[in-house]
Formats: sequence, structure tokens, C-alpha cells
Amino acid sequence: MGLTSTIVETSKQTAPELRGSRFVRACLRQPVDQTPVWFLRQAGRYMPEYMAVRRHHTLLEICRTPDVAAEVTITAAERLGVDAAIIFADLLLPFTPMGLDFEFVNGEGPVVHQPVRSREHIEALRTDRADELNYVARAIEQVAKHFAPPRADGDQLGIIGFIGAPFTLASYMIEGGSSRNYVETKKLMYGDPASWALLQDKLLTVLVAYAAQQVEAGADVIQIFDSWAGALSVSDYRDFVLPATTELVRRVQALGVPVIYFGVDTASLLSTMRETGADVLGLDWRVPLDEGWRLAGPHVAVQGNLDPIALFAPEDLLKQRVKEVLDAAANRPGHIFNLGHGIVPGTPVDNVINVARWVKELSVRA
Ligand code: CP3
Repeated sequence: MGLTSTIVETSKQTAPELRGSRFVRACLRQPVDQTPVWFLRQAGRYMPEYMAVRRHHTLLEICRTPDVAAEVTITAAERLGVDAAIIFADLLLPFTPMGLDFEFVNGEGPVVHQPVRSREHIEALRTDRADELNYVARAIEQVAKHFAPPRADGDQLGIIGFIGAPFTLASYMIEGGSSRNYVETKKLMYGDPASWALLQDKLLTVLVAYAAQQVEAGADVIQIFDSWAGALSVSDYRDFVLPATTELVRRVQALGVPVIYFGVDTASLLSTMRETGADVLGLDWRVPLDEGWRLAGPHVAVQGNLDPIALFAPEDLLKQRVKEVLDAAANRPGHIFNLGHGIVPGTPVDNVINVARWVKELSVRA
């Protein structure tokens, strides 16, 4: 059967005004036939298929080998029956072409051996080698090719590329790894605002080039992870983070794709985060979805916001929590169902699959 006949056949099932990708449509606040769903960290250690690949490769090997990264991405999306595939990569990959060595230490997370603490070190960071990251674009090409044909229900799976936000990436560079209080990051921010601005600017240059590679390779949407922005007061966010982040959002949107901007513990920042101009704001589970959406404002879409640990609850309670998120969204255009943060190791895979199914069943438009 030729491609044309496939499209004609499948398009019968969806009203013409709802055709395309329900995930991309929701990012743009257009009407959808049912609420799109995907999960943060949907390919990860909770999934046996991922662990089978992980036994033979380190995390960085998976990221840097397009065939393997594509396979991991595709397997997770198909196993869960979700509406979008997020490329398997890591936030910290751009550190390498910038000249900053890091590794993932088992059980500890990322470690940067020589954290960035001085003006000289910031000046030495390189911004001219982003093309070395193009293994991620090669993986996206494979994923986009795999998901190019519309699925049985006529919908096209969305392809998500991603980058870190300048604040969250700077915090890993400066702290040398994960942090509780961000003392070194804030010390640099407060004490040497000119060097902080230079670091933000260098990250911006690399991140825009990296996002451009991903869009050119077939990413439909770019998600910007500002995972740790919730550590900032509203004033610090506004003075030290909002300008570079707004510029990043604007330049990624200029590539022709919608932007999802995500952070954790951000209830008090949402009304300021919306000033970045992002198309979609990610909500964590600490804020009820309708309240978070009110803070984000009527002109953005929202993504969220089930507690990832609710995936450990008995079926009745889990389904109840899924329903509460959907009820709070009330089928308004511009809701993408997700978790408030990533799936954690040990999460029962069947519960994740059930949630994806329930979201579809409970949100189908009349
Ligand atoms: O399915 C997907 O979500 C795509 C894959 C993905 C990974 N990292 C692979 C990964 C994504 C989207 C990321 C983004 C990322 N990386 C973030 C932002 C997301 C968030 O959680 O807010 C951050 C902060 C990082 C940096 C990072 N990578 C940390 C702090 C850790 C250690 C924490 C942990 O879970 O162990 C990683 C490791 C990592 N990146 C894993 C995966 C699947 C798990 C470790 C492994 O397989 O060895």
C-alpha cells in the first residue's frame, strides 16, 4: 500500500479540523480529539527494556550512539502507548564541547571534576563546537523517520527535542553536581554579576545551535528543562535568570517550533516564568493544575501534573488522581497530561501504561 492511500484511509477516522499531532496541537492550544499524554523520563531505569540496553552500555554511550539512543526512545514510547517521544539524551551533553569534563557516577548522578568558579574559567569555555553534539540530531532523524506514518488512530506521534535552561546548566557547572542549597551558584550570581552574565550568554550561544540541530533533524517541539529554578526567589529569578531564558525561548521559537518550559517547585514563579513567552509551562504536582494554569495565564498551554510517586499507589487511588488532573483541566485546549517530574526507578511499568490508557479513555471529546 502506498503512502497516499495510507493517509487517505487513516484520515477518515479523525475530523479534518483535528488532524495532525494531538500533542503538537495541544502545545499550540488548538482543539484535540483527546488529551495527549507522555511522561517525563519515560525511558529510564524503571523499564526492563532500558535496563537490558544499559547492561551493555554506559548512559553516555547510549546518548552518543544514534542507533541505540533511537531504539531506547522508540521502545519506551511504543511500550507505553504515549502521544510523544522525547529523544533519549542528557541535559549535560553540551558540557563536553564547551570544554568541561563530567561523568555519571553510579548512585551519585553527574560529577563535574573541575567546577566552574572563576572568571578565567568562564572565559575559557568554548562556544564554537556545538556541531560535535550532532549525534543527538542523528538519533532524532531515526526516531522521526520511524514515527512518520500516522498511527492506527490517525494521529502522528510528536517528537520532542530538549535542552537545559541556562540557570539549571550553570548550577551543574558551578556546583560540580547536584546540589541542595546552590551556595556556589548564588555566590557567583550575586558577587560577580558580569561573569554570571557572560556564562549565561555562552550557554545561550551553544544551546540555540544545539536546538537548531534538533529541529532540523525533525523535532516538533523543544522542551527547556529548568529543573532547579524552584530554588530561586522571585527577585533572583527576575534579575539573574529571566533575561537569558526569555532570549533562549525567543530564539528557539524563531526556529519554527513551540517551546515547553519546565521546572520543579515553581508555583511561586509561574506568573514570572510566563514572561519568557514559552508556549507551554510544565507544572509540578505541588500546585493544583487549575490553580497553576490560572497563575500561568490564559495564553499558555500547561503540561502536568501527576505526582510521579502516585504511580506506586493502588489502582483505585491512582485512577482517582489521574481523573483529578483531567477534571482540573476540564478539556480546555492546551493541556498535555504528564507527571510533575520524572518517573523514578522502581515504578511499576503496568501502572504507567494504565495511566496513558486512562487519560485517553477519560478525556475523549464527545
Ligand atoms: O526519557 C527521557 O526522559 C529522556 C531521557 C533523559 C535523561 N536525562 C536520561 C537519563 C532526560 C530528558 C534527561 C534530562 C536531565 N538530565 C535532567 C532534567 C530532567 C529532570 O529530571 O528535571 C537533569 C537534571 C539531568 C542530569 C542528570 N542525568 C541527573 C541529575 C542524573 C542522575 C539522576 C538519576 O536519575 O540517576 C542523570 C542520569 C540520567 N539521565 C538517567 C537517565 C535515564 C538515569 C541514570 C542511568 O541510566 O544510569
